[in-house]
Amino acid sequence: MTIQPTGAERVAPVTGDLPRPGALTGVTVVIPTFNESANVRELLRRIADAVPHRVPCEVVFVDDSTDDTPAVIADAARDCAFPVSVLHRDTPVGGLGGAVVEGIKAATAEWVVVMDADLQHPPALVPELLATGEKEDADLVVASRYLPGGSRAGLAGGYRVAVSRGATWLAKGLFPRALAGISDPMSGFFAIRRGAVTADALKPLGYKILLELAVRCRPAGVAEVPFVFEERYAGESKSTAKEGLRFLRHLVELRTASPLARMVAFGLIGLTGFVPNLAALYVLTGAAGVHYLPAEILANQLGVAWNFLLIEVLLFRDRRHHRHWADRVGRFALLANADLVLRIPLIALFVGQFHLAVLPATALALLTTFVLRFAGTEALVYLPRTARRARTGRNVR
Ligand code: GDD
Ligand code: MN
Repeated sequence: MTIQPTGAERVAPVTGDLPRPGALTGVTVVIPTFNESANVRELLRRIADAVPHRVPCEVVFVDDSTDDTPAVIADAARDCAFPVSVLHRDTPVGGLGGAVVEGIKAATAEWVVVMDADLQHPPALVPELLATGEKEDADLVVASRYLPGGSRAGLAGGYRVAVSRGATWLAKGLFPRALAGISDPMSGFFAIRRGAVTADALKPLGYKILLELAVRCRPAGVAEVPFVFEERYAGESKSTAKEGLRFLRHLVELRTASPLARMVAFGLIGLTGFVPNLAALYVLTGAAGVHYLPAEILANQLGVAWNFLLIEVLLFRDRRHHRHWADRVGRFALLANADLVLRIPLIALFVGQFHLAVLPATALALLTTFVLRFAGTEALVYLPRTARRARTGRNVR
């Protein structure tokens, strides 16, 4: 039997037949690989030493390599007494996180352990992760570098240690409930019950797959086991500075998953727009000597552009493709300026008809136009157009 995860170009079980889904009451070890040919042989050897005689296991590599890693795995797997498969992806959708989700979808055992291929995560700990999960009746067991007995000896340099610490605090501050009981949400080494994973709800982005799982799947019961994050066995880390930006985007995406949270973020981004707006006003009316009215209009456009960029990158990143960028700019700018124009008659209405004082009338008008602008931006700039296409009878892909 072959496993057939979606989106995979090539699926190759390299030893034996994998059991049918649900047949294995043991563990599927999911290992993402990107050019790890110098590590996989030693990795499989250490898994063979530590795991199969304690828990039935299968290993699923999800590989995005451009080197001969899959061939080396296939060769090394010949000596393994447990099933090993390689799922090679020609298009590495979602990077490391996307690879892990593919691996979880292909898993057949009751437990899934996710670990790196470079031996920074000790395979000897796998049985202990599972035993802890069973003993404490937890759905998720995290191998943590921050518990007594754990350490991050292998984290190269003070810079990476500081970044890792900062990222941990930030994540825990933003998700106090989902990450309660997880001292190391940045860990890439953990065990999760397959039944606790709602794979279709996952939208992995970059490296922090544990964060994604903990926030979106909310596993019931979390336990931790300390571990020492070792030096890499061979090769180099694939993480770059870009990964840091991706992580921040990932945090925003997770935090703004609900419409209410998205509206708050929209408002906060709007507030930051005051900075370029006022700065432009200062320059235009000051040094440039422009009359304040045209200066207001020009400065407002800068604020609009600023807001548009932030909203595009942070808030509606995955909904941009519904319209051409010029179309989105146009609609966004129209809504943002309509906001200004609409506010005055609204204030007049609140004061004249509803007899509100000017200040509360203005506050109410600000709030109303803000909510309208948010709803308008969602509906007119970033909503999929399929519904309308269907109505006009054109083909929907
Ligand atoms: N399939 C696939 N696709 N695998 C990838 C990709 C990718 O795009 N990028 C990296 N990998 C694999 C690597 O081959 C390795 O097995 C594992 O993912 C981790 O990659 P490293 O490049 O070694 O990451 P790291 O050591 O910097 O980061 C690790 O430790 C961090 C804690 O400091 C990861 O486990 C992170 O998730 C973790 O936060
Ligand atoms: Mn590593």
